[in-house]
Amino acid sequence: MLAAYESIPRADRVIVALDCDRATALELAQQLQGKAKWMKVGMTLYYAEGPSIVEILKLLGYKVFLDLKFHDIPHQVSGAAASAVEAGADMITMHAVGGIPMMQAAQSAVDESGCDADTLAITVLTSMDDETLAQTGVSRSMTEQVKTLASCAQDAGLSGVVASPQEASMLRELLGPDALIVTPGVRPVGAALGDQSRVATPREAFDAGASHIVVGRPITQADDPAAAFDAIAAEL
Ligand code: C5P
Repeated sequence: MLAAYESIPRADRVIVALDCDRATALELAQQLQGKAKWMKVGMTLYYAEGPSIVEILKLLGYKVFLDLKFHDIPHQVSGAAASAVEAGADMITMHAVGGIPMMQAAQSAVDESGCDADTLAITVLTSMDDETLAQTGVSRSMTEQVKTLASCAQDAGLSGVVASPQEASMLRELLGPDALIVTPGVRPVGAALGDQSRVATPREAFDAGASHIVVGRPITQADDPAAAFDAIAAEL
């Protein structure tokens, strides 16, 4: 049987990362209307604009991935999750190192809200390497740490994880067919890498097991963002 997300076309599972100011975000949202289904709002835009940016994107017809990476005591994260889904977020993130009770608190808040928002865990930030991981007191390998934290997220009842395309197939095997695996670090053939180093093409990321992909600058900084989105959709 297909997992729920698999019945949705891949192009409708491309999430456009709006790492820009409000005016640019709204211009992009208008340019991509009727094409992209998802927008990702991160901390920079959200802390500048607050819940209104989520509400506007929802009014424009988008699903919103609100990537605020919660990490606090369970009571606080429960409240944060409730506020996020009340603003209209369809997907939220939290750090799995916050622990299973923290993730369960977030999941309970989402369940009690009656919104069917998805909950994702961040395992190890892709900006970290073995050395920076060891500095935090973790002596096991990066792969083991990612797997351990992904399993904690699943045990807590979360919908899935955020992962690099390189981790996607390993995590798909670990978490099974229904888990959401959302991968940034995606670059269409020929696109500039920017500050991303370990990248995959959109199709490679889906083939490796991603349920959704996040694409930012290759779309948002293109001369014609709508055409850039179309090119990715065609490749899929
Ligand atoms: O512009 P680009 O396609 O690199 O944007 C990728 C988006 O995904 C950004 O919003 C970035 O913060 C986010 N992200 C990432 N790598 C992670 C987690 C999130 O690039 N490991």
